[in-house]
Formats: sequence, structure tokens, C-alpha cells
Amino acid sequence: MTVIPPLEVTDLTTTFVSRRRRTEVVRGVSFTIGRGETMMLLGESGSGKSVTARSIMRLYGSSAELGGSVRVAGQELVGLAEPKLRAIRGGQIALVPQDPTGALDPLRRIGSQLAEVLAVHGVERVKTAAHRRAEELLAMVGIPDPKRVAGSYPHELSGGMRQRAVIAIAVSCDPQVLIADEPTTALDVTVQAQILELLAELQQRLGMAVLMVTHDVGVAADFGGRVGVMYAGRLVEEGPASEVLSSPRHPYTEGLLDSLPMPGAARGSLRSIVGSPPPVGAFPAGCAFAPRCPHVRPSCRYDDPLLVTIAHDRVAACPVVNTERVVA
Ligand SMILES: Nc1ncnc2c1ncn2[C@@H]1O[C@H](COP(=O)(O)OP(=O)(O)OP(=O)(O)O)[C@@H](O)[C@H]1O
Ligand code: SF4
Ligand SMILES: [Mg+2]
Repeated sequence: MTVIPPLEVTDLTTTFVSRRRRTEVVRGVSFTIGRGETMMLLGESGSGKSVTARSIMRLYGSSAELGGSVRVAGQELVGLAEPKLRAIRGGQIALVPQDPTGALDPLRRIGSQLAEVLAVHGVERVKTAAHRRAEELLAMVGIPDPKRVAGSYPHELSGGMRQRAVIAIAVSCDPQVLIADEPTTALDVTVQAQILELLAELQQRLGMAVLMVTHDVGVAADFGGRVGVMYAGRLVEEGPASEVLSSPRHPYTEGLLDSLPMPGAARGSLRSIVGSPPPVGAFPAGCAFAPRCPHVRPSCRYDDPLLVTIAHDRVAACPVVNTERVVA
């Protein structure tokens, strides 16, 4: 029997279209997440992590053209009509955004917002039962006094409690896929670890496939699972987080890890990647990392490196470094 994965993304492209120009931002991203598995998308600011996440949710409407395929539990989302999408979004696939404040209606109590999501997706149509379930969900995400929080407005809660409420809404319909886009960066440092812990716990409990976007290598290492490293709208390396982060096989991943402070290193002694990523709409020909790469060869400026298997369960898009390693 073939097992249908909760999320299967194949050759996804996202091109923003306006009257004056077309800008390709995501350029052929593929990955699969199984039940109860995690994939982290890691990369510098502007590499296309959020656009990938939001494209999977089909949140851009007519402002972007999508290519390739996004299947949620076997259902194709690219090209799916909006009414059908609305049932899947928030139901089978849900998003936890970076800033919980923007995700909540400031004028409505938390409990009503949760109850409405349950009603819209047909999980709990009877009002009293929906409110009871809302309180259960708030308790499940570690809110100590769910009754009070259900009766509160978003501004009456701390940032951490607001993000817990957003997570409760996201998991309320028992989604197959949860996408979390930098879910802790808007929060105090002390709260960040708690929210990551909560997401990991819910993932285990509910068996969701989780796609987590981060630019923080520490978060990727802590959360585990698989990691996909993005650069200029492409995945340049992908594999188990424990392996990719300890022995990177793409020069960009190496550079990202080198830019981390190492225990015992003198302040200011960090090595980091020279230069900055290419702007969207002006990606160089060949390997987009070539202008910054310490291993660059003349051929890198015109040969577009493909993502190829470089070890068991690992792929990378740099033939130069990986050929050298095979030969060595
Ligand atoms: N709606 C849009 N229209 C046109 N370009 C966009 C749009 N949204 C994002 N972009 C561009 O796409 C590129 C990738 O943006 P994205 O938000 O995915 O980056 P990111 O990897 O999530 O970075 P960060 O770590 O800063 O969140 C950026 O250059 C951004 O300016
Ligand atoms: S293909 Fe060339 S430029 Fe690109 S990462 Fe590899 S060595 Fe560097
Ligand atoms: Mg982002």
C-alpha cells in the first residue's frame, strides 16, 4: 500500500506579477514531509523561505503565479479554486505566522475566534460545544487559565499567550500539515524556547507534518528533523538536520554555520559570508552563490548546479565541492 505523505512539494515556483514586471522569487523547490516529521527551511533574509511557506498555503491569490505542484494529503492545491482552498486552509493545512498580533482579530474575544474556526470547518457547529472545545484547546496549548483567556481580547494577553492562542487556532481542526513561519522571533527570548517546545509536543501528540521556517541555525538544530537550506529562491542542500548542520556539503551552508559564534571564540572573530545575497529579479546566471563563494570556479558562472544525491538521504547543489570530496 502506498502511503500518501501529508505534504509533497514538487518543483514549486512563485513569480510575482505586476503590470510592469514579473519577478521569480521561488525557483523550483521540492521536498516531502511525512506524518509526524519536521522540515526546517533555513536561510538568510530574503532567500524565499516565507514566500515558499505562503505559496504552499496559496496565500498570494492573483498577485503571484505558481508553478509545479503542492499536494496536501494527495490533494493538489496549485490551480485549485478558492472555495475548495478555503476548506483545506485552516482545516488540513494551517499557518502559525511570525507575529501573533496580526493573526488575531483585535475586536473579538479569543474564545469566539476559536469557536468560529471550529464552526467554519464543521468541527463543532453547536455554539456551546464550540466554546467548550475552544477552552479545551487553550488548555492543550499550555494556557493555565483557559476560561479567562477565552473571554479575553488579544491586547489583554502577553505576546507568548497570544502566540499560544494562535497555535490553538491553527491546530483546532486537527491539520495534517502545520506551517510555522519564524513563530518565535517576535517574542521575548525566555518565551521562545517554550513555544518551540509546545510545537514539538503538539507535533508528537497530533502526528502533524511540520514545516518550520527560520533564519536561526540554533532553532533548526534544536528542533531536529530535516533541514532544507535556501539561497536565492532555491534549496541548495537538504537532509537530516543532525548531519547537514554538523557536516555541511554546500559552501553556502558552510558559510552560514561559520557565521555562528562558537563556544570559546573571541568576540569579533566570527567568519561570515562576504557580500550579500543577490536581489530578486537579478539572480546571476549559473550558481547564484558564485559571487560570494570561496570555492568558485569559472564554470560556476554559467553551469546551473542541480540538486543531486551526495550521500544517503542527502542532496546538495554544488558539484565542485562534492566532486572534490568524492575524489579525496
Ligand atoms: N508580495 C511580494 N511581491 C513581490 N516580492 C515579494 C513579495 N513578498 C516577498 N517578496 C520578495 O521575495 C523575496 C523573498 O522574500 P521572503 O519573505 O520569502 O524572504 P525570507 O527568506 O522569508 O526572509 P526573512 O528571513 O527576512 O523573513 C524578497 O526579496 C522579498 O522582497
Ligand atoms: S557551484 Fe561553484 S559557486 Fe556554487 S557553491 Fe559550488 S563551488 Fe560555489
Ligand atoms: Mg520570512
